[in-house]
Amino acid sequence: MGPVRSQSCSRRAFLLGTATTFAGAFIAACGKAPSAEVAATQVPVGSAVIVDKIIIAQPTEGQFIAYSTTCPHQGNPITQVDGNTVRCPSHGSVFDIATGQPVSGPATSAMTTVPVSENGGTVTAGEA
Ligand code: FES
Repeated sequence: MGPVRSQSCSRRAFLLGTATTFAGAFIAACGKAPSAEVAATQVPVGSAVIVDKIIIAQPTEGQFIAYSTTCPHQGNPITQVDGNTVRCPSHGSVFDIATGQPVSGPATSAMTTVPVSENGGTVTAGEA
């Protein structure tokens, strides 16, 4: 990530974060639930990006859905994107980015969705 390592939640830090073009993403780090912002153009249609602890997917153009990276199997992080699926490397569970459902085990339940919205070309996911 960029050089933004502010310990505060100041407006300035927020603006610096959103202005960074590296990965186009900024992670709020204010002790709240994870949240993430990314330019809509950086979320590939039919696939997803992982920004910190949130998976932001765009199954079809203009349709965004976000999930926690916490794997529903044993809670380890889902870290890999492969086309229209994401994968947890711990035990190999693979999930469909459109539905969140597992397509191969050992996980048997879906990923947890988080709120997501798109405004002016910016996708915001998680609790703000
Ligand atoms: S914790 Fe993700 S597959 Fe086991």
